[in-house]
Amino acid sequence: MEGITSKNCRVIMKGIILAGGSGSRLNPLTSVISKQLLPVYDKPLVYYPLSTLISIGIDDILLISNPNQIDLFKKLLGDGENFGINITYAVQKEPKGIAESLIIGEDFIGGENCALILGDNIFISEHLSKSLSIEFLGGAQIFTKTVEDPQRYGVVNIKDGKPKEIIEKPDSFISNQAVTGLYIYDKYASSLCKSLKPSKRNELEITELNQLYLNNDDLKCLPLGNSSIWMDAGTFDSLQDSSNCISSLQKRYGRLVGSPEYEAYKSNIVSKDYLLKIIKNHPKNSYYTSLEKMLKQD
Ligand code: TTP
Repeated sequence: MEGITSKNCRVIMKGIILAGGSGSRLNPLTSVISKQLLPVYDKPLVYYPLSTLISIGIDDILLISNPNQIDLFKKLLGDGENFGINITYAVQKEPKGIAESLIIGEDFIGGENCALILGDNIFISEHLSKSLSIEFLGGAQIFTKTVEDPQRYGVVNIKDGKPKEIIEKPDSFISNQAVTGLYIYDKYASSLCKSLKPSKRNELEITELNQLYLNNDDLKCLPLGNSSIWMDAGTFDSLQDSSNCISSLQKRYGRLVGSPEYEAYKSNIVSKDYLLKIIKNHPKNSYYTSLEKMLKQD
């Protein structure tokens, strides 16, 4: 494709966005439309995890969603050409767990390293940059964030900089380091997922996959610093807070946050001219006008 820049020494080129699930906590908002298509201020929620993957330099993406929603994602994102990347699609018949995505995506992953991101997770972080996809050395890499309510999350106990145990929604305090919804795995992840048994809630648990890597001393934890923002937009309050946060950041800095097109430009996946041509096909006084302004300022 003209205007698309060449690949470099990246070791993670593939990413999966998991955008299925039940979205039960957001009912009735999610009774006819998927959570990841709901608006977060000026963009659909899925734009944010898409931007995160692109910011790491990933340009080959598999989006997984429910059978009755997949066509809406195709309509929104197409084959990825607008972002200068390749997007393909797969279906998860029932929400049988986050780890199932690595089995569904096995052919797509094709024995390479792969990033997995949850479709309702928003990251605003300088720690997540292209250097990640150059420095990944194998095993599994997770990203943690200090939280005030660790009992709501999978948390990891870290001693001397090394993860010691991961507990899903612990009853008693073991750590305030929540595991966020971005994971990087080496080529063994799909076959390890196949060895997992469904949990009590009948899901293949991502925590159990991470535990397998930890048992092999092959799990790395990267804490996202205090300057990083991580939001999981799965409840009414967190969806509203995410919109408010994006709106105020964009107004304060006069720049879009979570723009896949802009991240593709910053990651040298597409050129400015390529995007300016695409913007011409979109309505004025919309998100695309802000994107155009930001590109012209750079
Ligand atoms: P959750 O927020 O844990 O689950 P959910 O989206 O079904 O929502 P609720 O708990 O309100 O019913 O899921 C985290 C993300 O992972 C979200 O983007 C949906 C996605 N997901 C799947 O696509 N398939 C699955 O089997 C599961 C468990 C989650």
